[in-house]
Amino acid sequence: MGAYADSYRRSIDDPDGFWAEQAQAIDWFRPPPLVHTVEPAGRGDVDRWYDGGVLNTSYNALDRHVIAGRGEHPALIFHSAITGNRRTYSYADLLERVAKLAGGLTALGVDQGDRVVIYLPMIPEAVIAMLACARIGAVHSVVFGGFAPAELAARIEDAEPVVVISTAYGLEADRVIAYKPLLDKALELSDHQPRHCVIVPRGDHPDGPAADLTAPRDVDLAVLMRDTRIEPATPVEVGATDPLYILYTSGTTGRPKGIVRDNGGHAVALCYAMKSIFDVGPGEVMFTASDVGWVVGHSFIVYAPLLVGATTVLYEGKPVGTPDAGSFWRVLAEHRVKAMFTAPTAIRAIRKLDPDGTLIRAADISSLQALFLAGERLDPDTYAWTSDQLGVPVIDNWWQTETGWPIVANPRGLEPMPIKAGSPTVAVPGYQVMILDERGRPVPAGTQGAICLKRPLPPGVSAGVWGDQDRFVTSYLSSYPGYYLTGDGGYLDDDDYVYVMGRTDDVINVAGHRLSTGQLEAVIATHPAVAECAVIGVADEIKGQVPRGLVVIKSGIGTGHDQLRTELVGLVRQQIGPVASLRQIDVVPALPKTRSGKVLRKTMRELADGQDPVIPSTIEDPAVIDALRPILKP
Ligand code: COA
Ligand code: AMP
Repeated sequence: MGAYADSYRRSIDDPDGFWAEQAQAIDWFRPPPLVHTVEPAGRGDVDRWYDGGVLNTSYNALDRHVIAGRGEHPALIFHSAITGNRRTYSYADLLERVAKLAGGLTALGVDQGDRVVIYLPMIPEAVIAMLACARIGAVHSVVFGGFAPAELAARIEDAEPVVVISTAYGLEADRVIAYKPLLDKALELSDHQPRHCVIVPRGDHPDGPAADLTAPRDVDLAVLMRDTRIEPATPVEVGATDPLYILYTSGTTGRPKGIVRDNGGHAVALCYAMKSIFDVGPGEVMFTASDVGWVVGHSFIVYAPLLVGATTVLYEGKPVGTPDAGSFWRVLAEHRVKAMFTAPTAIRAIRKLDPDGTLIRAADISSLQALFLAGERLDPDTYAWTSDQLGVPVIDNWWQTETGWPIVANPRGLEPMPIKAGSPTVAVPGYQVMILDERGRPVPAGTQGAICLKRPLPPGVSAGVWGDQDRFVTSYLSSYPGYYLTGDGGYLDDDDYVYVMGRTDDVINVAGHRLSTGQLEAVIATHPAVAECAVIGVADEIKGQVPRGLVVIKSGIGTGHDQLRTELVGLVRQQIGPVASLRQIDVVPALPKTRSGKVLRKTMRELADGQDPVIPSTIEDPAVIDALRPILKP
């Protein structure tokens, strides 16, 4: 039996033994007396790992490497393609800053279990703030910078933070985005008010504004860090099942879901992922070009590289335009990166501008051993171009915010498997991937169905939605008893390779960012001229998918269609944020529906993607589809 097959078998036949062994990668203050337990949650129950174990995630990410004599090794390299700045933090430097900020947060009244919202761009303080929270057992919730104040406010209301950490500004390619006014606006909209806002001053860009601070609520981070009365905080004892963070993600409704991650299972799972999939360890450099606001950033910019004592690169910039399509390759060359991770969208954007890979060859990328891609489907064409151009294995991996680490991947660290374009390869040890039909029965190889995970779910996978445990059970566990519903559809082939074909719900993936069409619809429907609307995700050459809106307007509305479109695009930007990328909205006479009133979004999406959809026999009025054909035609 090969190394992968052997590990996989053990992880399924003896999960307790397998995960007890993996838990040794972590320094526990009290080793877990139990490995796997089942905990009642609302109307169901969930899998828990290492209950009774005590650890601290920041201790494992920092202190233990310093104690082991690796304090001078680089932990974090900040690389800004916008300002040109570079800053390297050794493990000892990072520990000092994290401990000081952790002490500062304690001085501001943050206790163990309290929440801290972090609304920061890609600057080192984002990493420092996350680890500082972990150090004192506070629960962080990072909000992506591309969200509008209303979305930030919704997260603040749900998480009820004691402190919000933000900054004066962020740099978005050639634009300077003033963050503090966005935070102030969010706080105006929010019913919950934090006790304090800690603001990172920056000062590294000529056009960067200073933040307007309102004392005593707002505190300048630089002042806090200089305050000699504040003692650096020691890492507190945290239960393995205590929450480390909440990360909001789009569900099928308009209300974002606060996915809760624990401390113990998360730390063990990430160490295991680094060993078995990414093959990155102490002294090696990983560059994850994502954002700390997404799960890929949480796991593979911040926690995983530091937990294993590697060096992580924090990149401020874009794949293209800062200043060209060669920026990523220069990062690889400058920092001798071994493993890189990004989203296929970034590669498609680079390829468009540098189809012959001239900028790839202009950089010495000889240190690179593999490129990992996730966040959306890796189409075979992008896969082929990337592996030809880079000359290293290109590793697709499939997972989601809820799982926190790959479900399906090529386990390079265990045993590299042959790559099949279009498939992220095989189930990672710990995950039992099953394809089920509508009645919950496993389907044969080659047949599409709902991709589900048979319980128990491995360590690291979320066991709850913040403040709404019932929602966790209803969203993921109740469709097929004994299984977790991923929301993706796909199939297995005869070699158990998994093929992920896309979401089966109302979630769309735009440039690797997860959005809910229901949420976009909810915003559009608030416009007084709109009688009905639907949003669908349509194929896009670069971003994979982009949202497209269809609206039916109320009779007697005088607003011109162009004007209405502009207003609706503006409304979505204002309510959700620029990240929604909604640009195309059509005014249509009617929406196609079934006789029971269900809008036929899938049929419209297929028309917009140039396919010839099978029109459901339950359609109320086939003439509506005929009227839409010319509008939706690509
Ligand atoms: N803060 C503020 N605004 C942001 C933002 C942030 N952190 N991130 C994106 N935006 C804005 C963009 O400026 C853009 O605004 P605009 O409509 O005014 O131009 C809008 O949100 C849409 O952004 P994006 O979807 O990123 O499109 P883009 O055209 O600016 O860039 C790519 C295209 C391909 C370069 C970009 O999508 C990209 O880097 N993708 C990689 C995806 C990725 O890392 N995903 C993470 C999951 S692994
Ligand atoms: P997020 O929670 O934002 O990471 O989004 C998770 C969703 O992105 C998944 O449910 C999939 O729909 C999609 N996704 C992520 N990685 C892949 C991949 N490698 N292949 C196909 N789809 C992916």
